[in-house]
Amino acid sequence: MDILLLGSGGRENALAWKIKQSLKVNNLYIAPGNAGTHSLGKNIDISISDFPAIKQFVQANNIHMVVVGPEEPLVKGIYDFFINDPEVKNIPVIGPSKEGAKLEGSKDFAKQFMIRHNIPTARYKSFTIDQLEEAYNFLGELEAPYVLKADGLAAGKGVLIIHDIEEAKHELKEMLSGMFGDASKTVVIEEFLSGIECSVFVLTDGTSYKILPVAKDYKRIGEGDTGLNTGGMGAVSPVSFADDVFMQKVEQRIVVPTIEGLKKDNITYKGFIFLGLIKVKDEPIVIEYNVRMGDPETEAVMLRIKSDFVSLLEGVATESLDKEELTIDTRYAVTVMLVSGGYPRDYEKNKEITGLDTVKDSIPFHAGTKLANGNVLTNGGRVIAISSYGNTKEEALKTSFSNAEKVSFDKKYYRKDIGFDLE
Ligand code: AMP
Ligand code: GLY
Repeated sequence: MDILLLGSGGRENALAWKIKQSLKVNNLYIAPGNAGTHSLGKNIDISISDFPAIKQFVQANNIHMVVVGPEEPLVKGIYDFFINDPEVKNIPVIGPSKEGAKLEGSKDFAKQFMIRHNIPTARYKSFTIDQLEEAYNFLGELEAPYVLKADGLAAGKGVLIIHDIEEAKHELKEMLSGMFGDASKTVVIEEFLSGIECSVFVLTDGTSYKILPVAKDYKRIGEGDTGLNTGGMGAVSPVSFADDVFMQKVEQRIVVPTIEGLKKDNITYKGFIFLGLIKVKDEPIVIEYNVRMGDPETEAVMLRIKSDFVSLLEGVATESLDKEELTIDTRYAVTVMLVSGGYPRDYEKNKEITGLDTVKDSIPFHAGTKLANGNVLTNGGRVIAISSYGNTKEEALKTSFSNAEKVSFDKKYYRKDIGFDLE
């Protein structure tokens, strides 16, 4: 079969790598892709939000399945665009409907969903600008630090955690007055939870589901989890504290009620559910839902899936996921992100990347790269995710770190302490 994958990051390079291993795949196209996906399929210069252009490409090239990497097209309704068009309605789109994508696209929607279906999450209330006094009062009921979340998508920047109540009130007013545009016209204020986080990925056809390998990502730019938030500086799978007992709780209290809740609410969902969890006193609590795979978690998780990934996706498309088998590699898989100096603030692009051909025993997934006259150039803050296997976490990390040294570009930076807080 022929597959079109949407996206251009490390997640999509890892998905393309895994999809390409399937004997079922003939042609793989990636729109728009990057210099890494270029060697796995054919990059197509189409925007992930240009649904008519995607449809046209799918028809012209007899594509059998569309796999959506990032949240944006899902939140904008690519699933519904296809299903409502008689010319392409039979071509499966792997991802939730627009209504399902609200689990990521609206934090208020996600919170209401969790409350309605009894899924453990932090206490919260949502407010708009005309409810400022009530919002201040609610802040007064909570203890510091205060968690303020823009309701809508804000490129990963929409969550503020503030220690001082006066500052929290000030920032709340700024948010409601348009600090993140329309995304913060509604703000979720929630109770702060203290614990350790992990990412659980679920693939569902709407009825049955498979829980993919659990991972932990490292969001801060600095070692010891300090400094600004980034898209993610590395990931480790499996996660020592997410043991069988914890994962059983996750399945019973979160995964099952989520899938059943979607059904009860008549929400079509055939794709990935990303549970951002926090472990508080041994109990899993949902911090957020995302409606896609994580980045950089995918660059570790894909290494641990032994089964034919395209068969799993077909199971999703044909609502027969229960007939598919998911086998997991027991080894560790890790990824270490090489980023451009300055990231997540200002950084330069178009720096030549060298040494990729000297990488040994790791997979250098491209996150932000492009090809120009045969050279690979940096094209983003996160540039290359160096992924490795190991019998232990340490062994896998050692391989990634030694290869991280072999890849060069101007002002390269990476965290040398990925996995530091895990056993
Ligand atoms: P989100 O965009 O919802 O993933 O939030 C970004 C980050 O903020 C999360 O990964 C957590 O580290 C942190 N965070 C969000 N909500 C809470 C909360 N209620 N308590 C503590 N930390 C939180
Ligand atoms: N690594 C977190 C995310 O993809 O949102």
